[in-house]
Amino acid sequence: MCGIVGYIGSKSAENVLISGLRRLEYRGYDSCGIATIHDGKFAVSKTTKRIDDLESNLKEDVSTIGIGHTRWATHGAATIANAHPHVSNSEKFIVVHNGIIENYVALKELLKEKGFQFYSDTDTEVIPNLIEMNYDGDLLKAVKKTTDMLEGSFALGILDKDDSSTLVATRRNSPLIIGVGEGENFIASDFSAIVKYTNQIDILENDQFAVLKKDEVDFYDNDLKEYHLESQRVDISDEDIEKNGYSHYMLKEIHENTSTIKNTLDHYISGDQICFDLQLSEEELENIQQIHIVACGTATHAGLNGKNIIEKLARIPVNVVAASEFRYQNPILSPNDLVIFISQSGETADTIASIELVKERGVKFLSIVNVPNSTIDRMSENVLFTKAGPEIAVASTKAYVAQVCVLDLFAIFLADKLHRADRRFLQELLDELKNIHTKVEMVLEEDDQYLAYAKKIVGDKDIFYLGRGVDYYTAQEGSLKLKEISYIHSEAMQLGELKHGSIALMEKGIHTIVLCTEESLVGKVISNIKEIKARDAEVLLVSNLNITEEVYDDMIHLPAVNELLSPIVAVIPLQLIAYHVAVLKNLDVDKPRNLAKSVTVE
Ligand code: F6R
Repeated sequence: MCGIVGYIGSKSAENVLISGLRRLEYRGYDSCGIATIHDGKFAVSKTTKRIDDLESNLKEDVSTIGIGHTRWATHGAATIANAHPHVSNSEKFIVVHNGIIENYVALKELLKEKGFQFYSDTDTEVIPNLIEMNYDGDLLKAVKKTTDMLEGSFALGILDKDDSSTLVATRRNSPLIIGVGEGENFIASDFSAIVKYTNQIDILENDQFAVLKKDEVDFYDNDLKEYHLESQRVDISDEDIEKNGYSHYMLKEIHENTSTIKNTLDHYISGDQICFDLQLSEEELENIQQIHIVACGTATHAGLNGKNIIEKLARIPVNVVAASEFRYQNPILSPNDLVIFISQSGETADTIASIELVKERGVKFLSIVNVPNSTIDRMSENVLFTKAGPEIAVASTKAYVAQVCVLDLFAIFLADKLHRADRRFLQELLDELKNIHTKVEMVLEEDDQYLAYAKKIVGDKDIFYLGRGVDYYTAQEGSLKLKEISYIHSEAMQLGELKHGSIALMEKGIHTIVLCTEESLVGKVISNIKEIKARDAEVLLVSNLNITEEVYDDMIHLPAVNELLSPIVAVIPLQLIAYHVAVLKNLDVDKPRNLAKSVTVE
């Protein structure tokens, strides 16, 4: 989604903004722009091409204050006129905005009645004009009056051309942080935009305001009362968000699966104990009647894996729902339920809205989050962090694996606490989990095989991912990975459901990927494969079981692991196959079309 960076200091604002915008590219964008103040005027540059184009159009490095934006079109096409920053009629105020102004039509009418004119189709353009309308010599007050009139979500960076010593920022339901440097300060929608310059950040809460000067930042609450905000240190370095020799972030992140698993497990396992710092009493845990897992996209698929292992080990029913559905479904929640939210970014709008709903109902919840200090982290009393580090590629890979690991740990923890499974068995499972990164390493080493298979399917129009039980969940994730970065239509299906309809699609030239990691289902899976083969479709079998009958066309042998943990290893070849197909098709693997890394609007 859209990205914001802003700077005030002594460096070239143009350079800082361009480097910040490059760091935000991964979020997905279709136009971008910057504005600086020079000689009492705004210097504005915009493009519907890439940041490189924006950089090459810049005249000289002359300013030390500015704001920049990457836009992911919502209101109005990706044109220069619609690109941010947006300027007020008299060209006194200029604004970058993330989010959506829901009442912009009414506000536009009001401004038009007062003689304001509009040049773009955006919702954003009302904001600089409202500031102009509300201005009586005090920018902060004008911004506050303006945000009082806005409905929807926003993170804003605002400049006044007549005051090159001040940058104003505010937010509501869209993330924005303040970066604190030595003699320089920053705003950013995402820490990666400013990590090169500072590790100290302040986090703005909803309806709070920051007034940035070169040497200080003042914070104001919604009544414009000044307050003190303690800066926090973020332990991420510029190197963590470099490609480090890999051709794409996605490939780097797939290879980081091993360190991600280790870091995540090490964080929670001490000796033979799983240590979760949760505000949930033994009694509350014992009384859990039902668990609801709520997330979006890939995180939902991790949730489905959680359902499998929690139900099998702890014998508690688990209901997995997409947050975009949950929030509108008037969900049936009882006081003894536990809701688990999963989010890599911690900023996904539907997941945040679902948390608000659960908080209103007073039901216990915990959140599994990858980004510390993100909105979901701050909203949640109980947080289990995945230790995947920054995930830059739009397609989630290592964060998914980390989410599955945390859910596996949670299932073992719960089963142990509630005495729902044999202690020795749980210990063996935990020991196996502690070692699973070595199995993942083995799977990563077979990359030639995945590349060869990618070459086979690169020209296909449709691919089918099939599995029973937990393998169907992994199939869903494999299918999503392929479609989002290769643009090949793919579908995941329950293997047993094939003959109830979808087998009509099986014919010569169709490729299917069949997963099989559950011992008790091998016979059924083999029969299903025969049915597919009888219709002349081809089968790639992905399995760690001893399947002697050569019913398949190709096979990926996975290392043996307990079937409860198999999703962690089974997804790796699917991630790499999707990656190779996208590379073979010469596509923008890390920034697939139409997609954004964190979906901060509905
Ligand atoms: C797919 C992908 C998305 C995200 C989804 C939720 O590869 O990345 O489906 O999983 O948008 O995002 P988070 O986890 O940030 O809430």
